[in-house]
Amino acid sequence: MNKKAIITGITGQDGPYLADLLLEKGYEVHAIRRRGATDNTTRIKHILDHDNFWLHYGDLTDSSSLVKIVNMVKPDEVYNLGAMSHVRISFDIPEYTGDTGGLGVTRMLEAIRTAGLEKTCKFYQASTSELYGKVVETPQTEATPFWPRSPYGVAKLYAYWMVKNYRESYGMYACNGILFNHESPKRGDDFVTQKIVKAAIAISYGEQDKLTLGNLDAMRDWGHAKDYVKGMYLMLQQDKPVDYVLATGEIHSVKECCEYVFKKLGMPLRWEGNGIEEKGFSGDKLMIDCSEDFYRPAEVQLLHGDSTKAQSELNWEFEHDFYSLMDDMVDTELMKHVEK
Ligand code: NAP
Ligand code: GDD
Repeated sequence: MNKKAIITGITGQDGPYLADLLLEKGYEVHAIRRRGATDNTTRIKHILDHDNFWLHYGDLTDSSSLVKIVNMVKPDEVYNLGAMSHVRISFDIPEYTGDTGGLGVTRMLEAIRTAGLEKTCKFYQASTSELYGKVVETPQTEATPFWPRSPYGVAKLYAYWMVKNYRESYGMYACNGILFNHESPKRGDDFVTQKIVKAAIAISYGEQDKLTLGNLDAMRDWGHAKDYVKGMYLMLQQDKPVDYVLATGEIHSVKECCEYVFKKLGMPLRWEGNGIEEKGFSGDKLMIDCSEDFYRPAEVQLLHGDSTKAQSELNWEFEHDFYSLMDDMVDTELMKHVEK
């Protein structure tokens, strides 16, 4: 019998990569999508007709839909990737962010219990390095204390503890993957790497004048989503549920990301000014400036992960470093431009 998995967040970045991986492994994949006024299945077009892939309407804010789907599918594994995942926007919609990313996890865990599957169904929670927020030690490991700095981070902290609580209270195989930033050609347009890639290409084609960003000095540990979904899968294939950090251990600033992408497109950058007044030029042309609009009320300045535990206990490996990740994103976007 094929294993059955439920994935929430199928229309986002990670969902499609995870679905590809599980389908390759012979799983029957059931994915939960929200109804949207516009088509939100662009990233899963290639698997919509796959014999082992099913889409169900549901919502993490709607318990009855989750209970119904879990009861019908009776999954072996649930990967809970659904959330309002944009950190800055979580300050605009804090209540909804908590409802989806926090309470949504409890609803999913309860749906599994209601179906009587708490001893057989394994649960993966998409936890995050945003839990570390105002970091108290560097690099961050599974033992580093948390200090979230946004409604998003606080919602994910509640979710993190609910997962631990269901593990301790009901003996559920439930674990948190504490994932550092991971990107890909499927990354949403309003996350910084994709925003930089798309703007740089549009500028190089004369379709956009300049790029406006927020905190250029923020540093992140950026990996490739394709590598990270393999870690999610591995976390559910062990004898015991354990929480793991996934990270590359390599950090770069937003400014370095701009420098690499613009240079790759033949527009090397030089910088003038500081802070909000800092500007990036290529030759004499203004390419990048900054605006308060893209800062957060509380910034997370640095995230730097240590994934030694996942590498040694799960044999998790990542193929992409920062440069090959950015190459993949730029090359894919360039190809789309050529095909347009
Ligand atoms: P993403 O691209 O923003 O995708 C989020 C997904 O959640 C979308 O499919 C979205 O559906 C769905 N969703 C939002 N609200 C929902 C609701 N109320 N009910 C059901 N589904 C809902 O995020 P991602 O980058 O793939 O990340 C996947 C998960 O990992 C998220 O939980 C994120 O917080 C977490 N995470 C991400 C990273 C990272 O660097 N990418 C790092 C650590 C943790 P719509 O298309 O309908 O909006
Ligand atoms: N989005 C965005 N837009 N970020 C900018 C901009 C801008 O114009 N300018 C500077 N930044 C900085 C942000 O302040 C942040 O420090 C950094 O670029 C990365 O921002 P995002 O790409 O939006 O990602 P994030 O780190 O806030 O959150 C992502 O990673 C988390 C894991 O650490 C998201 O995927 C979260 O869902 C995830 O949990």
